[in-house]
Amino acid sequence: MVESSLADTAQPADGAALVTVRRLVKTFGKTRALDDISMQVYAGETFGLIGPNGSGKTTLIRTLLGIAAPTSGEALLLGQRMPNRAVSSQVGYMSQASVLYSDLSVRENLAFFGALYGMRGKRLAQRIAETLSLVDLADRRGVPVSALSGGMRQRVSLAAALIHQPRVLFLDEPTVGIDPELRLEFWDYFARLNQQGVTILVSTHTLEEATRCHRLALLRFGKLIALDTPAALLAASGQQDFDHAFLYYARRDESDPSPAARMAQP
Ligand SMILES: Nc1ncnc2c1ncn2[C@@H]1O[C@H](COP(=O)(O)OP(=O)(O)O)[C@@H](O)[C@H]1O
Ligand SMILES: [Mg+2]
Repeated sequence: MVESSLADTAQPADGAALVTVRRLVKTFGKTRALDDISMQVYAGETFGLIGPNGSGKTTLIRTLLGIAAPTSGEALLLGQRMPNRAVSSQVGYMSQASVLYSDLSVRENLAFFGALYGMRGKRLAQRIAETLSLVDLADRRGVPVSALSGGMRQRVSLAAALIHQPRVLFLDEPTVGIDPELRLEFWDYFARLNQQGVTILVSTHTLEEATRCHRLALLRFGKLIALDTPAALLAASGQQDFDHAFLYYARRDESDPSPAARMAQP
């Protein structure tokens, strides 16, 4: 169910496109980090960006957030070209690098990020309590981040990305480097958030996480090589698992004679 405070914002009906990417190209010198990508992410989805290191996942997220500018094509978030301050307040971002202050306590970190969004007083205190409870860290609120395990820090980073109650959450490889048990816990948090109405765009290079997403975009050398539900991607590939399905789509892409396909080859 959608929480009342989420519904307060002008939320499009379920199924509206929150992310629209049209013919997006991003080059760094001779590297085509994003090579003619078109896709949409709809309200209520958990959408996975799947691809090996260097396939363009972070660049796509950064372009959507307006941190990087497209070379050509367009990337729209909530119907707006980013950066856009009105949209930023509705978007949460957990980047690959830690943004936490290690000498501040868990609570102080969350208060800091809340303050960046203009939150204070009761609302801030309430959101700190809610996000800490979501990531099961209420009992660590007074502990400096430097004293936490890596997994706990990841959980604080997730809480920080959620402090302002975003409608859309971007998670860039949130489970990289954490143990399998915590990875499952993270996906349970994501499922809980999704049930609360948060649209999630999550990147991973771990194919076993693919089945937790409603739809997947498979990226390779900056190209979108397939996009569909996990079940449909498996079925159309005729493979038993995602590792083999990914290979199937990669080979199919390599034999694609289009100029874009040839340019993407190293
Ligand atoms: N700021 C940058 N300057 C130069 N090359 C970059 C930059 N950011 C990314 N790239 C290149 O773009 C490609 C895609 O990178 P990235 O989006 O980080 O992939 P992923 O997140 O899937 O690992 C890689 O070849 C990477 O080296
Ligand atoms: Mg990355």
